[in-house]
Order: sequence, then structure tokens, then C-alpha cells
Amino acid sequence: MEKFVIKGGKPLLGEVTISGAKNAAVAILPATILADGPCILENVPSISDVSITLQIMSDMGAKIRNINKTTIEIDTTHLMQVPIAYDLARKMRASSYFLGTLLGRFKKACVPMPGGCNLGDRPLDQHIKAFDALGADCKIEHGMIEVHAEKLTASHIYFDKVTVGATINAMFAAVKAEGLTIIENAAKEPHIVDVANFLNSMGADIMGAGTDVIKVRGVEKLYGANYAIIPDQIEAGTFMVAAAATRGNVLIKNVIPKHLDPITLKLEKIGAKVVINDDSIRVIGSDCYEKTSVKTMPHPGFPTDMQPQMTTLLTLANGTSIVTESIFDNRFRYVDELRRMGADILVDGKVAVVQGVEYLTGAPVKATDLRAGAAVMIAGLIARGTTEIEDIYHIERGYENMVEKLRSIGADITKKIYSDVSVQEAL
Ligand code: EPU
Repeated sequence: MEKFVIKGGKPLLGEVTISGAKNAAVAILPATILADGPCILENVPSISDVSITLQIMSDMGAKIRNINKTTIEIDTTHLMQVPIAYDLARKMRASSYFLGTLLGRFKKACVPMPGGCNLGDRPLDQHIKAFDALGADCKIEHGMIEVHAEKLTASHIYFDKVTVGATINAMFAAVKAEGLTIIENAAKEPHIVDVANFLNSMGADIMGAGTDVIKVRGVEKLYGANYAIIPDQIEAGTFMVAAAATRGNVLIKNVIPKHLDPITLKLEKIGAKVVINDDSIRVIGSDCYEKTSVKTMPHPGFPTDMQPQMTTLLTLANGTSIVTESIFDNRFRYVDELRRMGADILVDGKVAVVQGVEYLTGAPVKATDLRAGAAVMIAGLIARGTTEIEDIYHIERGYENMVEKLRSIGADITKKIYSDVSVQEAL
């Protein structure tokens, strides 16, 4: 078993560089299936969700070559429609992107029901609505989703709710559909824009990504392209909150500051100092923080993927903060772990009432999902004493070299591998 062991109480000081965005990478890698020719992708993060995506693609016959640590070449010319391994697909939500890309290329796809973080109900009805509108039949049988179309035809898609995954899948299928598809109530997250930019660099004709209405004019062919993935908004936000929580002073490099506005504004509101540069951001912590309210919303609102980290910081703020989760039904599972460390949080449905305490104390805790893992890491960094985090594979799904990065800015964190008889220090 692997654990992170953190001795808390040290301010984070120095500089850290943010990696490529996980949620853009896990969509852009499958998007190469739509290209007639090899693509070169830069700024690809080295995380397990990317390895799984590449494994699925390699099993299908994609040729993948590492050019350097963060740049890969993918050639999907000889891709075959082999079944995607259930065990790989169920590890991540993004396996649903193989539906849109295979449908766009082969007019059919059969993908195991995707997994991913357990954040409550995560249906695929809006993905299916989009495929259906474009002329595909969809059925779910024996744990597999099958989509099939004689021909993809442009359509008007109005999403009933704002969804990142379905917006991306709709773009994937619509780029090869005949005519002009209009996607309304589209998600506007930075990775939606990144995926659209990548598709356009392959020869697609997509307008409006980043607004509520995306227009996609179908094309016959897409070509291989070179593209650099955007920096990870949530990794950057996690370091921003960690710097503030530990009362540190960290320059966070390789970021797009505009993507971080909702986090910057919240940190400034509670008392941290944030200095914005062209492609970096400095966060300077404060000795005391004020209570606030946080409500997660689709972009440009406060990101749900930053809710657990921000709640952790608020455990030490003066007074009572209210955190409302409006995207997912069950994204407070990490609260039990924070309570073990002395946090005073009450959860009622989608609302957490956080009563600030003077300090947290180290304890054995679990990463219950990816961002929950980030939250308990931040809690460990600010707590008195030692925190041991189990189930760190959740964290490694989405954060590249987290231990090395945190150590480089002064954290006392080690990854330990526990066998039945011994403990081996991995770093
Ligand atoms: N929803 C539906 N029907 C659908 C699709 C979504 O009701 O067909 C609902 C969901 O249940 C949820 C809401 O719509 O309540 C938003 O879901 P969305 O589709 O936007 O989320 P997703 O595509 O499954 C992505 C990220 C998540 C991130 C959310 C919201 C990827 C691979 N995952 O998930 O990232 O929380 O958007 O921004 O892009 C993470 O990185 O930790 C993570 C969970």
C-alpha cells in the first residue's frame, strides 16, 4: 500500500511550475482519433488518467511515441475498432470521449460505461441526447454504451443542463456531421475552448467555444496537427490555496491568470494577497482569514473541482463559512476525513457549514477521490503533527509529481510504500 506522509506546519515558499491540464488532455488525446495523420501534442501531463487514455488508444492500434517528457506523437491512422477494456474505462469518466470520437470517425462506437470519481449521480443522458440529435442510435446493454449512425447530420442541440463532457462529445461528433450544428447552453470551461482550438487546428470549423452557443460546421476530413495543451487551472488553484493555507509565499508559474479569477477573488476576499503577472501568479498567505461563502457554478463561476481545497482553507478562517456545491450531489465525502483532523464542518445535503477552528491536527486519512485527496493534502500541510494519506492513487490520477513539487517549495512530504513486513521510503 502506498501513502503520503506529511509533517505539517511548514509554510510553502518558492516557485512551482504547473503542468498541462488533465481535463483538456483526456479529451484532446482521444480527439486525435478524428485526424487523418499524426498529431504532436505538447504539455501533456504525466498522470495516471493520461496513461490509461494512452493505453486504451494503444490497444486500439494507435502508434504513440514519446518525443520528450511532455511531448508525444500519436498516429491513429491504423486504428481498429477493438473493444475497450472494461477495467480501463471504468477508471475514468473521460473514457466517454471515445464515444464521440469513434462515432465521428467510424460512425459507430461501443464503450464500457465510464467510471471516475464518485461524486454522486453522473448520468450520460445529455451525451446521448447530443448523439441522438446528430442522427445516431444509442443503446446501453451489458454495461456497454453503443452508438451507431448511418450518417451524421447537423442539428440544433439544447442541453438541459450545463455539462462539460456532453459539450465536448457533441463537438466530437458534430465536426464530422454534414451541415451546421448549433450547441446551446454549452459549457464554457477553459478545456472546452482548448479542445475546440485543437479541433480547429486539425481543420475543423468551430466558433463560439467559451460562450453558451457553439457552432460547428461539419467537414469531411481533419488532419494531423501540432498543439500545446493549456496549463491546468485546477492544479494551479490547488497550489494557490495550499500557499495561502500554509501562510506561505509561492510563485505559481505556467498559468493563464484569467482562468484563475474565481479562485483569486475568493482568496483575496478572505485575506490572502494575490499578485497577477502575465503567465504566473504569486500567492502570499496571511496570519488570519475571514469567513466567506462559496457556491460552485459552471465556468466562470467557482469551480467544483476547487471546492474541497477551499473548504479545507476555510476550516481555519474566523467565523462560519458556507460552502454550497451546486454541480454534484455528493462532493462532501472528504469532510469526514477533515473532521478526523479536528475540522468543525456540518453537511446538510449540498451545503457545508464550516466553523473555523484554531488548528487542525495530523491523523490517518483517506483520499476519497481526486480533489478530496488534494484537500486532505492541504489539511496535512497545515495540521500540527503527522498526517498519513491512504488511497493516493486518486491523487496521482490528476496531479503530476505532487510530492516532488510540494517538496521543492518546502513541504515535508514523503511517499511511503508499505508492504506486510516493511516500510520503504519511495521519495
Ligand atoms: N450531467 C447530467 N447528464 C449528463 C452529463 C452530466 O445530468 O449527460 C450532470 C452531472 O451529473 C453533473 C453536471 O451535469 O451534475 C455537470 O457534469 P459535467 O458533465 O459537466 O461533468 P463531467 O464532464 O462528468 C468534468 C470534469 C470533472 C469536473 C466537471 C465539472 C473531466 C474528465 N471531468 O466532468 O472533473 O468536476 O466536468 O466541471 O473533464 C476532476 O477533475 O476532479 C473532475 C471531477
